[in-house]
Amino acid sequence: MRNICCLNQISHYGTDRLTGDYKLVDDMKDAEGILVRSASLHETEFPAGLEAIARAGAGVNNIPLDECAKKGIVVFNTPGANKNGVKELVLAGLFLTSRDVVGGIEWCREHAGEEDISKKMEKSKKAFAGNEIRGKKLGVIGLGAIGCEVANAAAALGMEVYGYDPFISVNAAWMLSRSVKHIMDVNTIYKDCDYITVHVPLLDSTKEMINQAAFDQMKDGVVILNYARDLLVNDDDMAEALKSGKVKKYITDFPNAKTSAMDGVIATPHLGASTEESEDNCAVMAADELKDYLENGNIKNS
Ligand code: MLT
Repeated sequence: MRNICCLNQISHYGTDRLTGDYKLVDDMKDAEGILVRSASLHETEFPAGLEAIARAGAGVNNIPLDECAKKGIVVFNTPGANKNGVKELVLAGLFLTSRDVVGGIEWCREHAGEEDISKKMEKSKKAFAGNEIRGKKLGVIGLGAIGCEVANAAAALGMEVYGYDPFISVNAAWMLSRSVKHIMDVNTIYKDCDYITVHVPLLDSTKEMINQAAFDQMKDGVVILNYARDLLVNDDDMAEALKSGKVKKYITDFPNAKTSAMDGVIATPHLGASTEESEDNCAVMAADELKDYLENGNIKNS
């Protein structure tokens, strides 16, 4: 019997696969494998018998990778398993930046049931007029599974998509996302794009990459989307950029004390992968990776 500790928010489609030779244990001290979603394991004392950790998601910044490497604990993630869920929320973000849907909804709530609503509506409509995203330039920074998915969908909507990936070659990136018109350096994205969306992992090299130096290169009125990791953006610099109008809209999946309540900001509580479908896909992929390793010693996606 192999003991698996399932830490949080793992869809039952994943744990249902751990039958037969597997026992789900509550206490981590007995675990040979761990299934985890977003809980941080940085302060966790790993048991001596722990062999592998599978993260039901793309990012692994909630896992102490150096410690795992030292102790020979194999770490898996689930690349691509939630790409559709995240892509759909990024598209929602793109639409929300260009059309004042939120303002319109609030207006309807405020005026619900009023007699002369049609007349008032005609007067107020102008204030909610927006723009279309078709023909606008979108810069996608990071062309992994999610970035490529976003790039291809945005291109299908008629956006001119520029892509840049700090970790793969231009040719490899082109093979992954043929709808990206120009694979350029990041500075070109900063200079030319109307919308910029980040899809890179959180590493020392990417931490706070969206900062004053980056804003200095960007167009006035640029729109920034961050559905990847909170610390990719320097919040103080973002607050200043919003105040000065350098950034017109900031769409982020990470609430924070400095910018969430500011005009022009639409923040959500890390909902990108929070769809039943993405949660099921991630849980199943993570459980299968764990089993394949514990049973056969196979290492995929680690
Ligand atoms: C990811 O890294 O893919 C996300 O953080 C997944 C999640 O929301 O759990």
